[in-house]
Amino acid sequence: MNIRPNNILSVLLLLMLLSLQSFAQQKSFEARVDSILSLMTLEEKAGQLNQLSSGLGMGPVIGQDDLAAQKKLVREGKVGSLFNAIGAGLTGELQKVAVEESRLKIPLIFGQDVIHGFKTIFPIPLAEASSWDLKAVELSAKIAAKEASASGLHWTFAPMVDIARDPRWGRIAEGSGEDTYLGSLMAAARVKGFQGDLKNTSNILACTKHYAAYGGAEAGRDYNTVDMTERTLRGVYLPPYKATVDAGVRSFMCSFNELDGIPSSANKWLLDDVLRNEWKFDGMIVSDWNSVGELVTHGVASDLSEAAVLALNAGVDMDMESRAYIGNIVQLVKDGKLSVAVVDEAVKRILRMKFEYGLFDDPYRNCDKNREKTDVLSKENKDAALDVARKSVVLLKNENHLLPLKKDLKKIALIGPLANNYTDMLGSWTCMGDSSNVVPLLEGIKNKVNASTEIIYTKGCEIKGTDKEGFKEAIDVANKSDVVILALGESGWMSGEAESRSSLDLPGVQEDLAKEIFKTGKPVVVVLMNGRPLSIGWIAENIPAVVEGWFLGIQAGNALADVLFGDYNPGGKLPATFPRTVGQVPIHYNHKNTGRPANDLVKWNSKYNDLPIGPLYPFGYGLSYTTFEYSKPVLSSGKIKADEKLKVTIEVKNTGNYDGEEVVQLYIRDLVASVTRPVKELKGFSKIFLKKGESKSVEFQLGKDELSFYDKNMKWTVEPGKFKVFVGTNSEDVQEADFEVVE
Ligand code: GLC
Repeated sequence: MNIRPNNILSVLLLLMLLSLQSFAQQKSFEARVDSILSLMTLEEKAGQLNQLSSGLGMGPVIGQDDLAAQKKLVREGKVGSLFNAIGAGLTGELQKVAVEESRLKIPLIFGQDVIHGFKTIFPIPLAEASSWDLKAVELSAKIAAKEASASGLHWTFAPMVDIARDPRWGRIAEGSGEDTYLGSLMAAARVKGFQGDLKNTSNILACTKHYAAYGGAEAGRDYNTVDMTERTLRGVYLPPYKATVDAGVRSFMCSFNELDGIPSSANKWLLDDVLRNEWKFDGMIVSDWNSVGELVTHGVASDLSEAAVLALNAGVDMDMESRAYIGNIVQLVKDGKLSVAVVDEAVKRILRMKFEYGLFDDPYRNCDKNREKTDVLSKENKDAALDVARKSVVLLKNENHLLPLKKDLKKIALIGPLANNYTDMLGSWTCMGDSSNVVPLLEGIKNKVNASTEIIYTKGCEIKGTDKEGFKEAIDVANKSDVVILALGESGWMSGEAESRSSLDLPGVQEDLAKEIFKTGKPVVVVLMNGRPLSIGWIAENIPAVVEGWFLGIQAGNALADVLFGDYNPGGKLPATFPRTVGQVPIHYNHKNTGRPANDLVKWNSKYNDLPIGPLYPFGYGLSYTTFEYSKPVLSSGKIKADEKLKVTIEVKNTGNYDGEEVVQLYIRDLVASVTRPVKELKGFSKIFLKKGESKSVEFQLGKDELSFYDKNMKWTVEPGKFKVFVGTNSEDVQEADFEVVE
């Protein structure tokens, strides 16, 4: 289209009008927020800051399960938000009380943990991160939002963006793994997927959690102390939170943990100085469940009243479930211990979020029962869940091309506690996911193979426990088969909240089962289903084919069958390092060099005397049914100035017999700087599809955004000096080139 001057003018005019309109809208919100605030009593202000778990519509969960009692609280203006209240009908009934029977008719906002799907459950977030497919991850969040909003919900307590370097920590399952760059992009994609245009009734408000550095818990023990330098905090853990602010997230959830001695719910530096003043976040902050009350347990408040003062003055607007606010604000203000201005600011941020989501104009926007029937668990949503699940599978080993299996095998033995398992495929945080909607691996395989193929299934053993009674039958079944598929791993809720493990081994007697099946001499494929990296050294060493299946959601069986029988060539890459043993933890690819980097040449360096150096599988690792060849990276220059861009180009060729996807990864190393720098840092990736024999040129750009770091004075800057750039198929198997940043 030839752009004529008047076109440009009209575009500029349109942009100006749009920005004026949003400015005017914000101004109109302010006026309306201020007018409501001016009418509110102190009691009603305290009520607006109070969030309770309803429990209605979800079956027997924590929270008040008495509708009449909840309606009374709403009618009296003592609650501003409910969560765990599900359903267009139920939320409509509660909203009716708020907007028709309460004095000021302020609408409720309904929150929920919609973490990886609402009813159509997608792969757990760690699995989705393995896809390295930002569009897939955004779509997953978008569909979750569509289903949740169809069921009366306004707000999800997601994305969880906590960086996790310790797989003992069960909540590694809920995030995007160990890397800051990948985690930041995943975080932004999820916010875009959930929120989109908030006027669209299929979208919901997102909530970045758990701010901050919750994944840095000492010893990988959930809720444990977090103690790290500001350099590590800002350089590794904070960027994904910031990425969600840049993506327009409208709320944050502060975390349970302390940071440098101050629990996040009382951490003014974190909530006000960094989040609000430095990052310009203008949304609202909700506490985590009773995290305000836990300020007493932490030992920074002597009682709930003091906890309320600390949290409000730190910037926590809404109090989830501790009742510290509703129970103390009025007296605190009367006693002059809490400024009403602080309370007002919190109330305004909550009212503003309700305005932004359109709840004052249309409080029943998500209460259409017909939508609930059409938008939830639709074929379109289930098809998307299958697509995202397949993309999340990581091929860890495939000796002698055992995979993909033929669909016309005579006999397949399917063994293991996760082989015909419905519930655990949903993983943790399953929201309204229902195991009856799950396709387990057995069904997925049945859907895939020829009618003439006999599948013999036996469990072999439980996920946990010492009972080996099932081994004999399992060995018999294996002996009768042409190939054995062994489905092993954890239960869905062995990861997630309050699920830290002191071991990363397969639980129970599952490895013993694998050893017995291995002895039969039959070709064995292990399919892992787990919520964290596992130390599966024996399996990795002895089993010819190993597939990381994570917990893939309702389409788990179909997705895994597509991969196992070659209808989908796996292209996933690990978002977290797999250690050889838990003794190596924390172990991550972007480690420092130290003064004595690990090597086998001499004794005197940083390694264990009872383990080989390095992880079992490195960050970014994942195989394909085909092979890819990388050329050496070609740089646009050997030298750049700090404010210039360096172009890095590499040729990738599909040299195998299958079309396939490859995640081309780009890492850098700053060789000499005012502080020590990681030996590698992911600074770019490109997921490409290559037909067999096809080649593609992949181009990356490096500039100050990628080369900057916090120098010895904590200044975010690029320092001149020598760099390496690495491009390859994972964080270890790379081609490198050198360049220099000059003054
Ligand atoms: C939990 C979790 C948090 C969740 C909240 C509400 O304790 O820490 O992730 O959003 O409570 O269920």
